[in-house]
Amino acid sequence: MRATFGVGLLGLGTVGSAVARAMTTRTKRLEAMAGRPLRLVAAAARDPKKQRDAGGVTVTQDVFAILDDPDVHVVVEVIGGTSPARDLQLAAFERGKHVVTANKELVAKEWKALHEAARLAKRELRFEAAVAAAVPVIAATRQLAASRPRVVRGLLNGTTTFICSQLDRGRSFDEALAEAIRLGYAEADPTADVDGYDSAYKLSILISLLEGRHFHPDDVRRTSLRGTTLADVESARARGVTIRYLATADFGEKATRARVGPEEVALDSLEGQAAGTTNVVRFETDLAGTLVFSGPGAGGDATASAILGDVIAIARSAR
Ligand code: HSE
Repeated sequence: MRATFGVGLLGLGTVGSAVARAMTTRTKRLEAMAGRPLRLVAAAARDPKKQRDAGGVTVTQDVFAILDDPDVHVVVEVIGGTSPARDLQLAAFERGKHVVTANKELVAKEWKALHEAARLAKRELRFEAAVAAAVPVIAATRQLAASRPRVVRGLLNGTTTFICSQLDRGRSFDEALAEAIRLGYAEADPTADVDGYDSAYKLSILISLLEGRHFHPDDVRRTSLRGTTLADVESARARGVTIRYLATADFGEKATRARVGPEEVALDSLEGQAAGTTNVVRFETDLAGTLVFSGPGAGGDATASAILGDVIAIARSAR
């Protein structure tokens, strides 16, 4: 059996706790898939005394105790936001650790700095969980490298899909948003969801991968969902359509145009039928034709699935 591979967890919110729980309740499965034991060495949280269902892992407030621990081989960053996450990821690479993250804002904004740091450290940066959570669209996008993209279109934010599907059922915007916060789908500041920043980050990551160069999220045109009312949805439904928060990238000959915002979709389309936190991602390409992916795009377990898939992939190939 190969040597144990140590995981250090930065962040113990909805996603971090789900990762910790999964690591402690399915050790055999993870070991079989990684070809070596995986051990959660410790987790860092802002308030380590706060009651958490985190599988009994050691909790510290000292992130550098984790970054400096020689038993930690991969750092999982699920704090979110750019500060202090950016400095912590860079510090992890400087110490020779691999990094796995669900942090779409950071990956979208600091694409170059993070990839360069990983390259210099000869370590891996993986972020499958940053786009569409459990749906393996990052892996799919990498695999489409030889095809020229024409259009990427879909639902990249679970909270807005949840809100739209609740409007379909006659609930108010505010009620639906409060429920999304309660269920742990929304960002710490739900402005990121309803005003489209979250979708823009995810779309910019997909475009960056498809184009092999950084596409900044500021270049995605954003329209908020806040103006969408129950009355708008009722009038749309009377015409056989409904409203969803769509992310679209058009890869033109000269320039790529990207936008996120509420748009009408057919009631019987995959997007129109999407409820809860379902994400949908549709790729139109030249060689590969049209591919459609759909599945859970938010929530602790769905995100932990993608994070642990990345951890396993690194553990398998790392020495
Ligand atoms: N707030 C995000 C969403 C979480 O609703 O999709 C997953 O990235």
